[in-house]
Amino acid sequence: ASYDMGGHDTYMHKEIHEQADAVDRVLRGRIDDRFSTVHLGGLNLDAREARQIRRVKILGCGTSYHAGMIGAQMIEELARIPADAEPASEFRYRNAVVDPDTLYVAVSQSGETYDVLAAVQELKRKGARVLGVVNVVGSAIAREADGGIYVHAGPEVCVVSTKCFTNTTVAFALLALHLGRTRDLSVRDGKRIIEGLRKLPGQISEIMKQEEEIKKLALQYAEARSMLFIGRVRGYPVAREASLKLKEVSYIHAEAYPASELKHGPLALIEPALPTVAIVPDDDLLEKNRAALEEIKARSGRILAVAHQDQEKADQTLIVPKNEDELDPILMGIPLQLLAYHTALALGRDIDKPRNLAKSVTVE
Ligand code: AGP
Repeated sequence: ASYDMGGHDTYMHKEIHEQADAVDRVLRGRIDDRFSTVHLGGLNLDAREARQIRRVKILGCGTSYHAGMIGAQMIEELARIPADAEPASEFRYRNAVVDPDTLYVAVSQSGETYDVLAAVQELKRKGARVLGVVNVVGSAIAREADGGIYVHAGPEVCVVSTKCFTNTTVAFALLALHLGRTRDLSVRDGKRIIEGLRKLPGQISEIMKQEEEIKKLALQYAEARSMLFIGRVRGYPVAREASLKLKEVSYIHAEAYPASELKHGPLALIEPALPTVAIVPDDDLLEKNRAALEEIKARSGRILAVAHQDQEKADQTLIVPKNEDELDPILMGIPLQLLAYHTALALGRDIDKPRNLAKSVTVE
């Protein structure tokens, strides 16, 4: 496929910059202010069925799996349904127990990833209810699912997914809000989340204004041989995705770890040559995260924080606009997409087509 580059040198750069508009699209026509909820026309799930769900299992690969991890947390927080995400590629090989009271959600940009499709087909064969959270309309996974949500990110050409990740996390926020309001989420909380959702496009545009600053940082990080990404609870999937972004486009080794697990091993790695990127949202875990930064600093580790306010222990902080706590993960990875992009650019990488990778993996 070839689309207009719109003045950008790479599709990755173009797609990163399209995110404010893309998020606007996934929200459009779906918010219901009267009942403080959202309309998701394609779900094919009535209120009675929604109330009977006992668990949610989210399946996807790579970036879509990471978006699903964020989605699982949102569903637990807003709808209070136990939820988790698992790589579809693992799920399909482990003879998982298929439970009739579980809602399965398959996530895919292309809608053609074979590991996800095979998981969906096996689930359907066993009588499970499967929803799709998919970008490409009419794709195999969208057709196979019982219903779902289109994420409306628009065509994504770069092998490295950016705008589709962001839109998928927003689609999950919509699903979590919808399930929440069908169950026990209050009108007040529904309103609060809707207000937060409406702020997202403007906040993404704010993040884009930091590109020059991020570009300078990227020149420093391009020299690193390896990087550590940490986050706690809401910040952890963000760290996972940022680490994948950096490694696939720049070929710099990166590892993501829950901040809470540092002392159980990875702290041994900390030294000046291993920079840490820390996701530090301004939520109830802020003090815990600050303590982790202190641990790293005490061992002369260099720290780049992504946070809502300046972090004293970090060498640099990229400030992200604050939203509602539950929605913060949608925004916190965006500056790190720019960091991965500019690091890869500084290293002269083939940004839109990293070596060894394909946009959609349609084989076993
Ligand atoms: C994303 O940057 C990756 N290239 C890759 O992990 C991708 O997300 C994965 O292969 C899943 O693709 P899908 O969303 O089209 O199913």
